[in-house]
Amino acid sequence: MKNILITGGAGFIGSHVVRLFVNNYPDYNIINLDSLTYAGNLENLKDIKDKSNYTFVKADICDYEEMERLFMGFDIDGVIHLAAESHVDRSIKDPFSFAKTNVMGTLSLLQAAKNKWRDNYNDKMFYHVSTDEVYGSLGDEGFFTEETSYDPHSPYSASKASSDHFVRAFHDTYGLPMVISNCSNNYGSYQFPEKLIPLFINNICHNKPLPVYGKGENIRDWLFVNDHARAIDVIFHKGKLGDTYNIGGFNEWKNIDLIKVIIKTVDSLLGRKKGESEKLITYVTDRAGHDFRYAIDSTKLKNELGWEPSLQFEEGIEKTVKWYLENQPWIDNVTSGDYQKYYKEMYS
Ligand code: NAD
Ligand code: TYD
Repeated sequence: MKNILITGGAGFIGSHVVRLFVNNYPDYNIINLDSLTYAGNLENLKDIKDKSNYTFVKADICDYEEMERLFMGFDIDGVIHLAAESHVDRSIKDPFSFAKTNVMGTLSLLQAAKNKWRDNYNDKMFYHVSTDEVYGSLGDEGFFTEETSYDPHSPYSASKASSDHFVRAFHDTYGLPMVISNCSNNYGSYQFPEKLIPLFINNICHNKPLPVYGKGENIRDWLFVNDHARAIDVIFHKGKLGDTYNIGGFNEWKNIDLIKVIIKTVDSLLGRKKGESEKLITYVTDRAGHDFRYAIDSTKLKNELGWEPSLQFEEGIEKTVKWYLENQPWIDNVTSGDYQKYYKEMYS
């Protein structure tokens, strides 16, 4: 029996990772640690909450003493660390909370893991989940590889870059067994509707303006969240200690083209006229420091560990739009309360 601590398991990607591990590894105890910020929602895990190999703990990763107690109390052997503040726009408004959670929170987990494991590092693993945004911004050509130098531009990506450096420093200084992955933009079910895809699906449904930053020409590389969770599974079990793996599906989209695909899919599923909701597109002031292009080269992950994305983008987007249309109560729940205040401050 292994005791695996998954942090941020009530969030978007974390909930998919928790579900995959709870269902696929009945011999593991999965401890989901989450402080339930605005982005954390236990509804995301209601299908597995009663499984015997699953435990939820509400705690803040910045609380070092609590992390020490949890590592000792649950006899933790492995960590998959996803807890973070994750939205670039929020990091522009409030960089301190990003430094606190993403840097200090990661440090407190690292220190607790080191103290628990230092007498015997055998079969231990600290897996840090990071982002391609640490590499900065590309021009029209080229890809991020594992060798690309870090060049973060937003407070979010700067805080994630810093946390990656701390994880490597714990490996180099104390020998802590670790692995890092840097993934491209995710999409799929249970994503909080502040990020582009769920925000726009929800706005199209309610005939609300679609706020496109700048000219809509920025490019992102999109991966279906279940494929990210599968990659995390493979890297956790087969990744080389001390290594970094890039995760992405070679699936680049200019924002405005992606938005038109979303509109087409939602309109068709709602029985609206083709392209009817394009009138909702509203160009707004660009995001400060807006990275132009992200594109991940995940050849290493494919060649060394055999991972590949499981589906094509068109299929993933259709599944995703259907999920949001069929789960309106989930959206109503997460967009009540504080969300309205955030939306007003951000977009009006
Ligand atoms: P999310 O914002 O949906 O979820 C984050 C979770 O962390 C929430 O459940 C929240 O309650 C929890 N959390 C926040 N602060 C905490 C704290 N101090 N203590 C304990 N829990 C806390 O984020 P996500 O999109 O699921 O991203 C998860 C991870 O994956 C992050 O580390 C992010 O940087 C990384 N990542 C995200 C993407 C993406 O496209 N969303 C891409 C690559 C990497
Ligand atoms: P987002 O989902 O916030 O992810 P990230 O900034 O981490 O890549 O944004 C994806 C792209 O969509 C990014 O280029 C910014 C753009 N965007 C908009 O044009 N309008 C919006 O309201 C949002 C949230 C994002």
